[in-house]
Amino acid sequence: MKHLKLFLAAALGVAALPAAAQEVDSEVHGRSATYVDPTDPQVLQKLDEWRDLKFGVIFHWGLYSVPGIVESWSICSEDVDWINRRWDLSYDEYKKWYWGLCNELNPTKFDPERWAADMKDAGMKYMVFTTKHHDGFCMYDSKYTDFSIANYAFKDNPKRDVARYVFDAFRQQDFMIGCYFSKPDWHCEWFWNPHFATANRMPNYKIKEHEEWWQKYKDFTKNQLNELTTNYGALDILWLDGGWVKGDDVDLDEVLVGARQRHPGLICVDRAIPGKNENYQTPERGIPNEQLSNPWESCITLSNDWGWVPNAPYKSPQKVINLLIETTAKGGSLLLGVGPSADGTIEEGLTSRLRVVGEWLRKNGAAIYGTRNAAHYHEGNFWFTANKDGETLYAIYALPEGETLPAELSWTGNVPAKGKVRLLSTGKSLKAVTRDNVTTVKLPKGVAQEALVFEIKTR
Ligand code: GLC
Repeated sequence: MKHLKLFLAAALGVAALPAAAQEVDSEVHGRSATYVDPTDPQVLQKLDEWRDLKFGVIFHWGLYSVPGIVESWSICSEDVDWINRRWDLSYDEYKKWYWGLCNELNPTKFDPERWAADMKDAGMKYMVFTTKHHDGFCMYDSKYTDFSIANYAFKDNPKRDVARYVFDAFRQQDFMIGCYFSKPDWHCEWFWNPHFATANRMPNYKIKEHEEWWQKYKDFTKNQLNELTTNYGALDILWLDGGWVKGDDVDLDEVLVGARQRHPGLICVDRAIPGKNENYQTPERGIPNEQLSNPWESCITLSNDWGWVPNAPYKSPQKVINLLIETTAKGGSLLLGVGPSADGTIEEGLTSRLRVVGEWLRKNGAAIYGTRNAAHYHEGNFWFTANKDGETLYAIYALPEGETLPAELSWTGNVPAKGKVRLLSTGKSLKAVTRDNVTTVKLPKGVAQEALVFEIKTR
């Protein structure tokens, strides 16, 4: 794993995750080393609104969902431990088999309204959808390639322009809408040219020697970004993946001028490319060590994979709640990875877990949504958040998995002004005794064994 970390850090040109950062699964990459504040007031405004939401979902759905394997990466010929492929096939045969999955992806039970209702019930407020992953297979009806869900097994379905229906359904539930798009495209002949072998994730030819090929790739990518930001209704976030191709390589500035005329304030996330087009940072599969003041989001899978895989080891609701608490207290948002099945449904084992998260948020959401950084934000299992006015603080006890609550809880600082706090799950006031800056609260008998939130009035 260490090799992978170093390799990816080098390949992606980003800093590896700081050693002591919370490792959720296997670490992939940390946040960018620098953050540049946007200057467009509408972008700043939207970022501020986005920072209120805290909890979002990212769907990975594509060819890889048919066999239930790692998203796209198995066609990339890099010998790393997280890429598994079928050993009964040669690399070329394998790629052929993989591309052929377009004839099998036929999600006849695709019900985006159901997805949106389930994610809303989980307490999520924004959504990012893979319109095109690295394999180049479009989950929307692109004018610029035939390689899309609209042209194969699902072509006669009225919802073949899949992304449109996903975006519409989530818009109706008041989600902010994020468009995931991979800049690299391994199906595009101007990125992986058929005259050369494909040794790794990079373009497989010398750009300087074949400038016209690269220009065609750029035009293709710009055209696709323009169609997605023109024909698919209101967008809030353009989430660009594949940091080994920079936004600048595909004239992202130019795309954004038009896109922001159509979607004022559009947040652009040119992931892992520090600069003006990375409007928030996106550490992956881990949470930064410290509280940060710039906008950021951790994307973390609910299972171990981004897409659907059979018998996925989903994280427990408590684990998800604790990740959300820690992320929020450190000033970030949690983007949880969910993989819909190839038939278009979302597994009941997945939604049942998310329902528990939603129940917790219905009681305790005041400590999460719309909050901002508290100056003293962490002590042991306690995480603190603050209302925007700073006068109300929340002491959130993130109950570790497998532990039960003690009879009383204490924290240092963040002192309640009037000798009491309110337990959000019951709405009841509890006596709070503060001595030498340490506040102690006795828990009521029979309190639910879950993360607890104490509302603290500081005046
Ligand atoms: C990484 C991977 C990609 C995945 C993404 C999600 O950058 O390359 O497969 O879609 O993370 O965060």
